Amino acid sequence: MGNVILIGFMGCGKSTVGLRLSYRLRRTLLDTDREIEKEERRTISEIFAEDGEAYFRDRETAILRKLMRSANNQIISVGGGLPMREENRALLHELGQVFYLRAEGGTIYERVKDDTTRPLLQVADPLHKIETLIKERDPYYMEAADVALTVDGKSFSQILDEIEERVNAREGNAETEG
Ligand code: S3P
Repeated sequence: MGNVILIGFMGCGKSTVGLRLSYRLRRTLLDTDREIEKEERRTISEIFAEDGEAYFRDRETAILRKLMRSANNQIISVGGGLPMREENRALLHELGQVFYLRAEGGTIYERVKDDTTRPLLQVADPLHKIETLIKERDPYYMEAADVALTVDGKSFSQILDEIEERVNAREGNAETEG
């Protein structure tokens, strides 16, 4: 176990933060969306279109169960909807320290407005959809998280510093200060 897990809404920066964190902490990175795509040999959009969201959600839980057997000291970035399932939240807690990258609707919208790979946002009014979903999901993200970090207006290096500090504190190898 001992993994560092990144959760949060689509476009909150999980993938970029995950990649940079993996260099900084010298740990391998695993992204649940990419794992599902690899195993299924098709994209998230294809999975949603061909088998529906419920099928995809079951694949997410299956990946977490697999990680319970294999993942140690990794950075794990998870799909935005994954923490909505109670079982998934319990599994995330067992897997490691969970960081919620918390962002406002406007921040998310700016990052995802031209993206076509997220089926849930292919709607007439994506900003409204984002705001509705964030309101609905935020309590579950908070419940799943050990640490919630506001990311609006912060640089990636600021976010990484904050995560690194909390990881060090948890793992008991913090530098003398604090
Ligand atoms: C989803 C988020 C996506 C992906 C799928 C559904 C969601 O992942 O799992 O499109 O329900 O929020 P990202 O958060 O990595 O974009």
